[in-house]
Amino acid sequence: MSNYFIKSFEEYFGIYRKSVENPELFWQEIAEEHFLWRKKWDKVLDWDFTKPEIKWFQGAKLNITENCIDRHLVNRADKVAVIFEPNNPEEKEEKITYQQLYERVNKMANVLKSQGVKKGDRVCIYLPMIPELTISVLACARIGAIHSVVFAGFSSQALATRINDSDCKTVITSDGSYRGNKTIDLKRIVDDALEECKNVETVLVVKRINSNIKLKENRDKWLAPLLEEASNECNAELMDAEDPLFILYTSGSTGMPKGMVHTTGGYMVYTAYTFKNAFNYQENDVYWCTADIGWITGHSYIVYGPLLNGATTLMFEGVPNYPDFSRFWQIIEKYKVNQFYTAPTAIRALAKEGIEPITPYDLSSLKVLGTVGEPINEEAWHWYDDNIGKNKVSIVDTWWQTETGGIMITPLPYITPTKPTYATLPFLGIQPVLMDENGEEIKENQVEGRLCIKYPWPSIARTIWGNHKRYKETYFSTFKNKYFTGDGALRDEVGYYRITGRVDDVIIVSGHNLGTAPIEGAINEHSMVAESAIVGFPHDIKGNGLYGYIILKVIGEGRNHDNVRKEINQLITEQIGPIAKLDKIQFVRELPKTRSGKIMRRILRKIAHKDTSNLGDTSTLLNPEIVQEIMDNAL
Ligand code: PRX
Repeated sequence: MSNYFIKSFEEYFGIYRKSVENPELFWQEIAEEHFLWRKKWDKVLDWDFTKPEIKWFQGAKLNITENCIDRHLVNRADKVAVIFEPNNPEEKEEKITYQQLYERVNKMANVLKSQGVKKGDRVCIYLPMIPELTISVLACARIGAIHSVVFAGFSSQALATRINDSDCKTVITSDGSYRGNKTIDLKRIVDDALEECKNVETVLVVKRINSNIKLKENRDKWLAPLLEEASNECNAELMDAEDPLFILYTSGSTGMPKGMVHTTGGYMVYTAYTFKNAFNYQENDVYWCTADIGWITGHSYIVYGPLLNGATTLMFEGVPNYPDFSRFWQIIEKYKVNQFYTAPTAIRALAKEGIEPITPYDLSSLKVLGTVGEPINEEAWHWYDDNIGKNKVSIVDTWWQTETGGIMITPLPYITPTKPTYATLPFLGIQPVLMDENGEEIKENQVEGRLCIKYPWPSIARTIWGNHKRYKETYFSTFKNKYFTGDGALRDEVGYYRITGRVDDVIIVSGHNLGTAPIEGAINEHSMVAESAIVGFPHDIKGNGLYGYIILKVIGEGRNHDNVRKEINQLITEQIGPIAKLDKIQFVRELPKTRSGKIMRRILRKIAHKDTSNLGDTSTLLNPEIVQEIMDNAL
């Protein structure tokens, strides 16, 4: 049990040194001691960032669900694995033990098999945060099918793009979902999407809201009767360590989302190990991450990381403000939650409501508070510390990405001295570096640069589904022989990292990764729009809001501009989802462009930030006069 659980700062430094001096040996020991492998690997690591090719634990055979479930049945059969807290507090919760999870996953796996799903097939899962989501994910893994979970807030067009990109033939969805006091017609969204997805043969439908939906003959099937008939035993498919486990889409700088491919062995080792240490999980703790399983945070730290450690993981179907703003605190009290992991945007939204919603609740069970997804500002950090942790609970600001699979830079609770807004130090085995504009590594402290990682870690995404060239260009071409994160960071005098934000065309809104290109693509489909450019601007709650500069084909005539604004946001909602709606829309005559026709987003960003005292070099602009005009009319 040597290095699996780190207990002191000295130990962290010692093990960290070992983990970067000889990463293969380090990861081999962790992998050997804590997991169930059906066959051991031939080689710990093979890598070449120039190709790029990364292989961990090659030759090993395993099934991740045996590690998440079966092996716990000896000691934890009756321990609660998953707590399901419904949207409506009046509805009864569900507690699923490891034994029950085993049976339900096996039944689901048998249903998938009976529908013709085989090892290597892609299955799209488009479900709300209900137990069937976790069960479907694990059932795919059980039979070696590759799951592609699509966040159930995405629109039908976004769903269709993702289904087609990975050629899913099976979709798992529900008749609808609850969200606060609303219901959402998920099945209709799937039906619309499938108009464009001719290869989908089967749609399995969970009954959640009892809505009156139509099943399409020969394609759609209610899941419940199939589950009832299925056996609760299903052999786990033997997988290679490097077989794909799942695809998860993330935004990029072009219109097409990137299907990040994570493989089995390395992802398992890394998510398990980070979960244990970043959250200091102890045997009887109740752990709650408020993310949706549609995002990487949910994959790694609601499903896989916790279950690999035999933990109790809570999944919540609802939203923080329904029935009122005390919902999170009420749930923490109800289950005596020990670790609570959420996004800065949720903290800011809750902080705005003051402390009245908190005071009636007993939050004394909390031991660790986590944040993820975007930089946390100092004020929000202190609010979290003062009001939720009562200054007694360790806060971990965890930096990572869909592509990294697991937490990369984080304090270890009660071990690493925290510093608000700093994600602090690299996790074991992680070698971050800062690069300057000339592509050189900056070795000193108290510097700012572009954040790269210079050595592989087990859970790095191995490719982009169907597009290895794009994988290479996006992550391994900006800096030689380094993985480029797309983030800027600064390193302070003691070597702590603070993530300053994206340095590419991705904007993080409420912790969600949004690419400017797909949003601009949606806007440009409006018949009156000639061109558009999106930038982020500081937003009290969302971290960043979206500011759109839009050129209309005929300016100033005809249509009411407010209506056009609404229609543009409607188009975005249809094509991407409501999370990508613009907060501000300014109609402009022209956009500032360089002579080669490139939009100078830097200037638009400064105007949106209301920071126009120094616009920098504008001499390369083709139309410098437009800048003043845009500034005069800025919102
Ligand atoms: O910009 C960083 C920001 O979120 C990006 C990754 O987004 P995504 O792939 O959706 O994964 C989010 C959940 C892991 C990063 O490139 N980000 C994530 N965590 C932090 C953060 N920025 C600052 N501090 C963080 N703790």
